[in-house]
Amino acid sequence: MTAGHLASLERSDKSYLQKRKGRLKVSGVNSALIVLAAGKGTRMNSDLPKVLHQIGNAPMLSHALCAGAALAPDRTVVVTGHGSEAVASAARAHNPDAVTVLQEPQLGTAHAVAQAAPALAGFAGDAVVLYGDTPFIRPQTLMAMAEARRAGADIVVLGFEAADPGRYGRLVTEGETLLRIVEYKDATEPERAITLCNSGVVMADAQTLMALVNAVGNDNAAGEYYLTDIVAIGRDRDLKARVVRCAESETRGVNSRAELAAAEAAFQAARRADTLDTGVTMLAPDTVYFSLDTVIGRDATVEQNVIFGPGVTVETGARIRAFSHLEGAHVSRGAIVGPYARLRPGTELAEDVRIGNFVEVKNATLAPGAKANHLSYLGDASIGAATNIGAGTITCNYDGVLKHRTEIGERVFVGSNTMLVAPVRVGDDAMTGSGSVITSDVPDAALAIGRARQATKPGLANKLRAHLLKLKAKREQKES
Ligand code: UD1
Ligand code: CA
Repeated sequence: MTAGHLASLERSDKSYLQKRKGRLKVSGVNSALIVLAAGKGTRMNSDLPKVLHQIGNAPMLSHALCAGAALAPDRTVVVTGHGSEAVASAARAHNPDAVTVLQEPQLGTAHAVAQAAPALAGFAGDAVVLYGDTPFIRPQTLMAMAEARRAGADIVVLGFEAADPGRYGRLVTEGETLLRIVEYKDATEPERAITLCNSGVVMADAQTLMALVNAVGNDNAAGEYYLTDIVAIGRDRDLKARVVRCAESETRGVNSRAELAAAEAAFQAARRADTLDTGVTMLAPDTVYFSLDTVIGRDATVEQNVIFGPGVTVETGARIRAFSHLEGAHVSRGAIVGPYARLRPGTELAEDVRIGNFVEVKNATLAPGAKANHLSYLGDASIGAATNIGAGTITCNYDGVLKHRTEIGERVFVGSNTMLVAPVRVGDDAMTGSGSVITSDVPDAALAIGRARQATKPGLANKLRAHLLKLKAKREQKES
């Protein structure tokens, strides 16, 4: 990986997508993703639309879109309603090709799916319906549903055995066949005793799905157009429906702040396990926090209490030491960061760079072998190969109005406590004296010293001390 390779959600999504596409095109299946995200989420008690609340520093909506990317969708449609503008722009930020449609008013899940019809006009292939507030559906699960479609099911519904079925829709089955789905509000007592529940995820041929949702009515306890009714309607049309099962943990939805916090914990736990599986050493995995787009290479080491904000890529063999905070940063192989380092957006560390304790880096590149080991701020800067930044060095990048760049060449020795007042350039093989305030460019191989000259007065320390002791004695006499 080279400069500027900050893993964006979209990009990691795309490479994943390309890998999957290769696989799926073999069987010739096109697919479209429909994400329902119109609901209000009243129980969040928030001005922010529910699907924009974050898990792993990414909106819940992004999690659903990432899950759906497993199918390499040719079209992605996001159904918006409450907070539609904000939801639509988050969808496009994640995937610029996503189409957003407005559902207004919100008359139920079938009505929501029906809004996707114009966006799927002329589309031949399968459609899968996901909820924007159900972030944990695994790619493997969607692949299993696609498999069931290929095996001949017209409608595939994702179900799960619920420990506490509560108000979930119940799946009425006969052997492997799904007969119908009954919503809790409309269910009889024997139906409520069913523990196999509806996750909401549905897969079917896109045009079949559109025809089915158009046939759904709203004569039920909620007066809503239920997507779940497509199973019984399909059965009347000789369509076969099947259930694919997943773990209840995958279908976990988020309806309240408490559930959001629990979802965050579940996300972190899953990420820690995945990260260990991919060959990363973690000394105390429970103390490390990831973002949805964090990428860490094999044989990297992550010490205790490290936080990965959005946009971090760590290459193989790098070491992130304890108590470091990283965001928008790329760390190349062999680099060592921390303990107690802060990498902010735009940080690019090349091979074998060292960033030590209490060093902050922002919008700066460090070339191979460069070192900043202690107590520094490096902002809006480029630092050449094998350059050593002395303790306490600061790039004074901000004049109160504008930001300016500091350019430091290769093999430079920046003395401790140097203030580099940007814009300023220090040439290759140059040096700066400790405590210097560098305000003008330093040519290659020059030594720049910018500080007051030292004056030394022999014996004066003893005289001064005697004087001070006398003062102290006088003061004590007065007080007693
Ligand atoms: C739905 C299912 C239920 C299932 C449960 C799983 C129906 C009728 N019921 O119930 O069988 O067990 O999910 O969580 O489908 N939405 C819209 N527009 C609307 C209505 C909903 O976009 O008009 C979106 C919501 O934002 C949400 C999702 O669809 O993301 C599900 O809606 P919700 O009201 O939570 O459905 P449930 O009543 O939970
Ligand atoms: Ca719900």
